Amino acid sequence: MTPRHDREDIHVSTTDAASDRESLRDLAVRVAAEAGELAREGQAGITVLDTKSSPTDVVTKMDRATEDLIRARLLAERPDDAVLGEEGGDEGGTSGVRWVVDPIDGTVNYLYGHHDWAVSIAAEVDGVAVAAAVNVPRRDEMYEAVLGAGARLNGRTLQAPPAVPLEQALVATGFGYRPERRTQQARVLLEVIAHIRDIRRGGSAAVDLTGLAAGRFNAYYERGLHAWDWAAPGLVASEAGLRVGGLHGGPPGEDLVIAGRPELYEALQDLLAPLGADTDG
Ligand code: IPD
Repeated sequence: MTPRHDREDIHVSTTDAASDRESLRDLAVRVAAEAGELAREGQAGITVLDTKSSPTDVVTKMDRATEDLIRARLLAERPDDAVLGEEGGDEGGTSGVRWVVDPIDGTVNYLYGHHDWAVSIAAEVDGVAVAAAVNVPRRDEMYEAVLGAGARLNGRTLQAPPAVPLEQALVATGFGYRPERRTQQARVLLEVIAHIRDIRRGGSAAVDLTGLAAGRFNAYYERGLHAWDWAAPGLVASEAGLRVGGLHGGPPGEDLVIAGRPELYEALQDLLAPLGADTDG
């Protein structure tokens, strides 16, 4: 019998899967570039259109317009795919591919004229993120990743720096919009801050996670994110050599997302678990 590695059928299907992922990545990058340009042009003078989970959880007309453009472009090329977007919700499909989209992650930064907001687009196959693009337009940064094939920043391979001891770690985090949740998050932070180098609150989970991959922080944690917040930047971070997960070896989830080089991830997890960082207190 022909050895497995010489068999044409196996070779073809592996190659097909890889090139499918690359073509999903290419589409994500193209659409994130166009969407980022639209959002960048619309930032000046932007105002609040609506609110969501609390009066401070805002939506602008550009969140909606950017997501509309992303959905239209993705579905024009791949009409049988599903799309989950922060603003427009779930739209079913039949192909097994689902796009997970955050049109503007860091809407409050966007509203106040800050630079750190991002367009995030991930493609999942059977629930697993296989391709991603994160565009941070005001930094001129385009991150991209393919599952099993690495991450790149503006075309260059991205490798996160090695771990540092927890007490030397610069840790990024964020806060939810509801007062009860952020009060507990502040309580957790009060303990965490005594054990690390310092904390950064940038205002965009996508910019935090991709910035972690680029070496701007050593670790990240946050409670209350949604799939659209971590799908694309989480794949960039894991393909750059970081561990991205939840507590006790679980996957990343709304309860908690932790990211860092594996040794530091473990140390941060051990610090966070007894503090109830995955609870509202
Ligand atoms: C928010 C940002 C923020 C994080 C919040 C997110 P949005 O996303 O990522 O950094 O702390 O938890 O909801 O609302 O700006 O898309």
